[in-house]
Amino acid sequence: MDTFYIQTFGCQMNENDSEKIAGMLMELGLSESNYTSADLVLFNTCSIRGNADEKFFGHLGAAKARKAKEPDMLIAVCGCFAQQDGAAEEIMSKYPVDIIFGTHNLSSLEELLTKRIETGKTQREILEDSDIEEGLPIKRSYAHKAFVTIMNGCDNYCSYCIVPFARGREKSREAANIITEIKDLAANGCKEVMLLGQNVNSYGIKSNFIERFSDLLLDVAVVKGIERIRFMTSHPKDFGVDIIEAINASNKICNSIHLPLQSGSSKILASMNRVYSKEWYLDLAANIRESIKGVSITTDIIVGFPGEEDWDFEQTMEVMDKCKFEGAFTFIFSPRKGTKAYNLDNVVPEHVIKERFNYLVAFQNNIMAQDSERYVGTSQEILVDGPSTKNMNILSGRTMSNKLVNFTGQAQAGETVFVKITEGKPSHLFGHIEERKWV
Ligand code: 5AD
Ligand code: SF4
Repeated sequence: MDTFYIQTFGCQMNENDSEKIAGMLMELGLSESNYTSADLVLFNTCSIRGNADEKFFGHLGAAKARKAKEPDMLIAVCGCFAQQDGAAEEIMSKYPVDIIFGTHNLSSLEELLTKRIETGKTQREILEDSDIEEGLPIKRSYAHKAFVTIMNGCDNYCSYCIVPFARGREKSREAANIITEIKDLAANGCKEVMLLGQNVNSYGIKSNFIERFSDLLLDVAVVKGIERIRFMTSHPKDFGVDIIEAINASNKICNSIHLPLQSGSSKILASMNRVYSKEWYLDLAANIRESIKGVSITTDIIVGFPGEEDWDFEQTMEVMDKCKFEGAFTFIFSPRKGTKAYNLDNVVPEHVIKERFNYLVAFQNNIMAQDSERYVGTSQEILVDGPSTKNMNILSGRTMSNKLVNFTGQAQAGETVFVKITEGKPSHLFGHIEERKWV
């Protein structure tokens, strides 16, 4: 067993977990390889919507075909799909999987791998819950920016959402451990940290910490070398003025807030168990816009939640129009077994959902195109990510407010440069480096 390949599905929390899994495997002496040649292929799964499950099973089918030809290769499955009741049995009944573990015990991998090699039998360990695992080795994807998980799990039980079942109860990491990790990152050249959690703004509450999220933000802001602090996701119900004050108190804390609305209809929001109304959200968004200069607010919307009538969808469109989000992730409702919404009546017909979805996406694209236009002619401070994924001849990076910018010029990943914006597209800006700022 010399090489491994990890296929990660889903959100940044999973990406961060995969970085830890890669770190552990490298500490065991394995090296990273590709899907077709790796001795161990590991799937870190997502289960947020049905299409995530389908994608995973597509990949697992391909791995099964490879294993039929190369029986010595090992297949491992972990993450949110694996964590659910009955999932391990379902996987094992149809696929030749060697190792299965859940979201609470990444550190079991070494033992499971050893046992699998020693016994030749499938190893499975899914824990119901556990404390946050600290001190795992980690193989970072980038040198200049890093994910830092600050809490795990969710207690909000939005009626559509599988996360409370897949990730367990909300738990926060000790601030001291978070700061140590970030100091270490900074010492190794990291400029930007993304603080991750399902609901970062309730940081510390369930763990009875005195320190709140706004305190943590300010503590991170004084770590020498860190230039940008991002965070996600924020549940609107927990977004207090203290967070607004923290953002305004430090120019390192980015003025970009991901604030999922989900629906603009108070009736649907109640059925989703979001515990805020349309008006409450509008007040919060207006307050954030008024209080934080140049702030960018992005959101998540679910279209076609059971019971969503034309009138409810119009309410969503009204909020989209009033809030003028800088970005929106739009999803079609996907019933998840085990959640409350799975059993709800008044399912919206597919053609109605599609029509609403397309309307919303077109509307939002128009708003983003207008927003991008405003940047044309301005100079933006960009943290360079490196060559664009779509075109190696141009560079890519982001503004403080998280706007994606592609640009021409010479710079290395991790440098901060000024870019003159010449063109605005709905999804990104285009420009060229006008002045180098060495930091
Ligand atoms: N169906 C559709 N979208 C969902 N999301 C979460 N669960 C579901 C579901 N069952 C969306 C929400 C959440 C984002 C991460 O995924 O908008 O904010
Ligand atoms: Fe899911 Fe709601 Fe928790 Fe977000 S806040 S992870 S949508 S249950």
